[in-house]
Amino acid sequence: MAGTSSLGIVVVVVLALIGSTQAQLQMYFYGMSCPKAEHIVKDYVKQHIPNAPSLAAALLRMHFHDCFVRGCDASLLLNSTTGQAEKNATPNLSLRGFDFIDRVKSLLEAECPGVVSCADIIALAARDSVVTIGGPFWNVPTGRRDGVISNITEALANIPSALSNFTTLLSQFNNLGLNTTDMVLLSGGHTIGISHCPAVSPRLYNSTGPGGIDPTMDSEYAENLKANKCKTASDNTTILEMDPGSRKTFDLSYYSLLLKRRGLFQSDAALTTDSTSLAFINQLLSSPTQFFFDEFGKAMEKMGRINVKTGSEGEIRKQCALVNS
Ligand code: HEM
Ligand SMILES: *[C@@H]1O[C@H](CO)[C@@H](O)[C@H](O)[C@H]1NC(C)=O
Ligand SMILES: *[C@@H]1O[C@H](CO)[C@@H](O)[C@H](O)[C@H]1NC(C)=O
Ligand SMILES: *[C@@H]1O[C@H](CO)[C@@H](O)[C@H](O)[C@H]1NC(C)=O
Ligand SMILES: *[C@@H]1O[C@H](CO)[C@@H](O)[C@H](O)[C@H]1NC(C)=O
Ligand SMILES: *[C@@H]1O[C@H](CO)[C@@H](O)[C@H](O)[C@H]1NC(C)=O
Ligand SMILES: *[C@@H]1O[C@H](CO)[C@@H](O)[C@H](O)[C@H]1NC(C)=O
Ligand SMILES: *[C@@H]1O[C@H](CO)[C@@H](O)[C@H](O)[C@H]1NC(C)=O
Repeated sequence: MAGTSSLGIVVVVVLALIGSTQAQLQMYFYGMSCPKAEHIVKDYVKQHIPNAPSLAAALLRMHFHDCFVRGCDASLLLNSTTGQAEKNATPNLSLRGFDFIDRVKSLLEAECPGVVSCADIIALAARDSVVTIGGPFWNVPTGRRDGVISNITEALANIPSALSNFTTLLSQFNNLGLNTTDMVLLSGGHTIGISHCPAVSPRLYNSTGPGGIDPTMDSEYAENLKANKCKTASDNTTILEMDPGSRKTFDLSYYSLLLKRRGLFQSDAALTTDSTSLAFINQLLSSPTQFFFDEFGKAMEKMGRINVKTGSEGEIRKQCALVNS
């Protein structure tokens, strides 16, 4: 019997060793290779986000866009070389986020050259920024490696559109292993940040209700947006909030607005058109904010694992905008 159980132990140990050589994300991946890495990101965020809190939204959105195209591999940060890069498909606002990531990367390169991936920096900076503005914390296991391809066509195909309906959105999320509750939770990111008229104008000027207004949108809200924000159908510069009055606070008000038919984008409003999704919105609203925070965090951790490159895949870029030569 003693022989059998020690054989059992050997088998378990061997299996564990095999498991550990199969690279995957892990907490504090840089614990040995660059022990200060996560502190450097956090300190930089804590130092700068309070002066520029709107960057938190840009960084959260950057992480989402990165993960939805080729996995969370910082392909979003690459500059165009031959074809057009993903970057060119994102609105200019995110550019503020690009500079921010580059500055964090410089600090990390000074501390431990060639060790910390740009993909992990995005994931950590997004989490730390959201925490800094009073939003939820979530675990960010690290060990992502950087991709070498960035393609605008893929970005346009994979990044959900503000004009999409529930079915289209859910299939995009499902393709990446995310389900209905993940989609409702992650869309809750719209509790912070800003947008531009093109994402909503078709609902205000070119839909099927009176005055071209989308009949699923609260008409008072729509009239107000047309009178004060998106004054023409082609305005592409005016900034508007997805969660008016509360865009700096990570809270449940985005979901309350959805039930008042005041979701800004069709993609927000769409979350009330499916029974599972609607039931979950009601559950969020009838629970303490902490429930939203906890569940949002789990969904973010799940999003942060989408098609990640680990082990010897990809590379650790020296500069986030360029593939290593
Ligand atoms: C469900 C599909 C989604 C659609 C269709 C969508 C669409 C959009 C659009 C059109 C904007 C405004 C861009 C602009 O006009 O400047 C925006 C902003 C934003 N989105 Fe989403 N989004 C989605 C999901 C998400 C997810 C999953 C997150 C993160 C977890 C997120 C976080 C944000 C944030 C924080 C902003 C504000 C960015 C800023 O202030 O710079 N969105 N989104
Ligand atoms: C990437 O492109 C931006 C904008 O075109 C430019 O400012 C930046 O210097 C480029 N980065 C590198 C490393 O070439
Ligand atoms: C970008 O991706 C599209 C769709 O997968 C493909 O047709 C195109 O050739 C790619 N472009 C480059 C420059 O690789
Ligand atoms: C985006 O940035 C480019 C280059 O900085 C500028 O030429 C263009 O006008 C900007 N577009 C908008 C909509 O702000
Ligand atoms: C959702 O949008 C897609 C693409 O535009 C369309 O084919 C589909 O019929 C729409 N589904 C519903 C339920 O409206
Ligand atoms: C979505 O997946 C999470 C686990 O990642 C699970 O807890 C949740 O119940 C799932 N939601 C649905 C609607 O299946
Ligand atoms: C308005 O919608 C129609 C069809 O729904 C489309 O053909 C037209 O191009 C749209 N106009 C604008 C300004 O978006
Ligand atoms: C924004 O609108 C102006 C004038 O309506 C137009 O000239 C410009 O090309 C538009 N910019 C973008 C990025 O669509």
